[in-house]
Amino acid sequence: KKVFRIAIDGPSASGKSTISKYLSEILAIDYLDTGAMYRAITFYLLENGYSLTDENEIEKGIKKIILKYDNNNIIINNKILKDELRTEVVTKNVSLISSYSSVRSKLVNIQREIAKKNSIILDGRDIGTVVLPNAEYKFFLVADPEVRARRRLKDKNSRLNMTFDEIVEDIKRRDYLDSTRAISPLKKAEDAIVIDSSKLTINEVVENILKSIRGI
Ligand code: C5P
Repeated sequence: KKVFRIAIDGPSASGKSTISKYLSEILAIDYLDTGAMYRAITFYLLENGYSLTDENEIEKGIKKIILKYDNNNIIINNKILKDELRTEVVTKNVSLISSYSSVRSKLVNIQREIAKKNSIILDGRDIGTVVLPNAEYKFFLVADPEVRARRRLKDKNSRLNMTFDEIVEDIKRRDYLDSTRAISPLKKAEDAIVIDSSKLTINEVVENILKSIRGI
């Protein structure tokens, strides 16, 4: 059996995790949500009282973290994290934490290790460019900020107490931070296929991806 990797990158709320989860069920392969890992680190640092702007302290702090990925669960120092990852305070701070090189190198190593074993879909910002530049299939999902905000508002997993306009602003802010940071910015890999999901349903996006994987 041949092992293959699918990289799905794109800005926040572009539908990556919904699409990836669905696709992984259809193809019966694993799925790793790398954004959840950055969120887990952010949650841990907040919980343990770190000053999030102190990069040196954070570099020390993350050495104490043992992060495991088991059965689609993110486990930090033996604690399974789920709803904690989607809170407003984590969402607000995750882009800052994910801009630190110590955080990125720790997580990129873990992600590559996980992707070695079986066929898998990874979703994130830098999968096609940095984590798995040799992935067999690469996609870059985009959608208009307003469409993404509407989806986020409907998403019961994103526990946000924000208005539509605030969500649009937060999405644009994260787009900006993620695509302008120095290390591994959000960027389309040269060989990635762009899919604009603004006017597409989940099924249509998945169909699109399946077609290009099957080469038809
Ligand atoms: O995908 P999600 O919105 O959960 O990602 C949360 C944040 O984690 C992103 O805004 C980005 O700052 C960071 N991230 C990253 N690299 C990845 C995945 C996520 O920097 N591969």
